[in-house]
Amino acid sequence: MASRLSLKVVPDYEALSQEAFEKIKRFATLHPQAVYGLATGSTPERLYQLLRTYIKESGKLSLTQATSFNLDEYSKLDPKHPLSYHTFMWENLFFEAPFKSSHIPNGMAEDLVQECLNYDLLIKQSGGIKLQILGIGENGHIGFNEPSETWSEGTYVADLHPSTISANARFFGGDQSKVPTQAITMGIGSIMAAKQILIMASGANKAEAVRAALLGKHTPELPASCLQRHPNVTWLLDKEAASLIRD
Ligand code: PGA
Repeated sequence: MASRLSLKVVPDYEALSQEAFEKIKRFATLHPQAVYGLATGSTPERLYQLLRTYIKESGKLSLTQATSFNLDEYSKLDPKHPLSYHTFMWENLFFEAPFKSSHIPNGMAEDLVQECLNYDLLIKQSGGIKLQILGIGENGHIGFNEPSETWSEGTYVADLHPSTISANARFFGGDQSKVPTQAITMGIGSIMAAKQILIMASGANKAEAVRAALLGKHTPELPASCLQRHPNVTWLLDKEAASLIRD
């Protein structure tokens, strides 16, 4: 299969967000009924702000015929909790940029394994993800696919790596004990099944993970290295995140 890797380095987080916004605007205009894979976290915040503001103010773009699937959700955290990914998506995007239908795993489901199977089925029934948006963790994770000895496949219940708990504690008032220890996440197999992937990274703290994902070994110990084998990936980096892959 022909493979397409595109890599763009821009000066800073604002330029990165603008670039991602323009790409999604073009994509959404061409494919109004597309199925999106969405990410949470600090990285896409400004992108979502640009997108929802444009949708609300220009009247030129709408996602109301499109479908979205989020990558992940904490387990045992009420969707109404201010730090749940349900809340994040509502506040950052959906309240002003609604989709025809939006799906986020239910981390409160009584049977989490069944919830994962249902989520995979829903993605399949939607026709599959056309554009997957990703961030990358400092340890190279994507979604909550943490460094591991094996590649994951479909949606599953993941244990958060201690470094992820420590990184995410900033959202929980700096208190690691408040960060959930498990999450439902789409697996590497689910992510790799997306037709097109846009992965963004900003900041020097991501530089080593970016270097390893792009130039290191293809290994589940660095989950984002799976993208080396994806046929259509765009890496969008700011200077700091790209600092270890540049001359
Ligand atoms: P961040 O997280 O966007 O908050 O840096 C990215 C990730 O952990 O996937």
